Amino acid sequence: MYDQFNRHISYLRISVTDRCNLRCTYCMPENGIKLLRHQDILTFEEIRDVVKTGITLGINKVRITGGEPLVRKGIAELIKMLSELKGIQDLSMTTNGILLKDLAIPLANAGLNRVNISLDTVDPVRYKEITRNGGINSVFQGIKAAKDAGLEPIKINCVVFKSKNEPDALKVAQFASDNNLLVRYIHQMNLKTGEFSVVEGGKGGNCAICNRLRLTADGYIKPCLFADLKYNIRELGIKQAFHLAVSNKPECGSYNLSDEFYNLGG
Ligand code: 5AD
Ligand code: SF4
Repeated sequence: MYDQFNRHISYLRISVTDRCNLRCTYCMPENGIKLLRHQDILTFEEIRDVVKTGITLGINKVRITGGEPLVRKGIAELIKMLSELKGIQDLSMTTNGILLKDLAIPLANAGLNRVNISLDTVDPVRYKEITRNGGINSVFQGIKAAKDAGLEPIKINCVVFKSKNEPDALKVAQFASDNNLLVRYIHQMNLKTGEFSVVEGGKGGNCAICNRLRLTADGYIKPCLFADLKYNIRELGIKQAFHLAVSNKPECGSYNLSDEFYNLGG
C-alpha cells in the first residue's frame, strides 16, 4: 500500500490491551483511568484476521504493544496464531519486561522474534518513582530471560525528559553496553499539544519515512499517532478500514485529543 505521499505502508503496530501493571508518570494517571469494556476488546481471532488481511495489502512487519501486552491473558497463543500466518518478516513486541521472566520462553516458542523493553533508569528508587511502584529486579530478570530465549536483538526504550545525556539515560546506556543491548532514546511526548520528536536510534517520529499503521485494542486502524483519525474494522470491514487509514494518512502528525499512550502503545 502506498499513501498519498508515496510512503510504502508495511508496518502494523497492534495494541492488544489498554491495561498495564505499571503507571509510568508520563503515560498514565495514577488512578481514575477509563478502561475499555471487555466486549469492545478485539478477540485473538479478530486480530489474526486483521493481520491476515494486512498481509495481503503489503504489511510485513508487526509489533505487539499495549498498555502492557503481557497482561493480556494467553498472549503467547496470539503470537502463535500470528507467526503461523505466512508473510510477516518481523514479529516483535514492546513490553515493560515485568512479566517477561516467565513468558520469554513461551513467547519465543510461539514464534516471537524479538522484544523492545522499556527502561528509563537503572536505579531501583528512580524506577519506583517513574513507574509508580514498579520493581526493577523483575525487569532485569525479564531482560535476562529474553536473552536466554533468543528474543534478540533486544532494544531498550529509554524515555528521556530533556536529553540522552541526563544522568538516568547515561546509566541506561552503560547498562546496555555492558549487556549487549541496543538503546533507543524517546523524548517525552505530548499527544494533546502535538509535541513529538524523532526517536534517537530508531525510526519513530520521522514523518517523511513513516510506514506505520496502528490497530487499537478496540478495533480501530489509526494512520497516525498524532492525529484523531481512526477507522473501525467491525463497522467498516477490515479491508475498507485499512484503505481509509492509508488514504487519509497525514503527511505529518499534528495532535491527538482522543487517545492516550496507553491505548496506542507509543
Ligand atoms: N512520551 C514518549 N513515549 C511514551 N511512551 C509512553 N508514554 C510516552 C510519552 N508521553 C512510550 C515509552 C514506552 C512505550 C510503551 O511507550 O517509550 O517504552
Ligand atoms: Fe505501562 Fe508502558 Fe505506559 Fe509505563 S509506559 S504505564 S509500562 S504502558
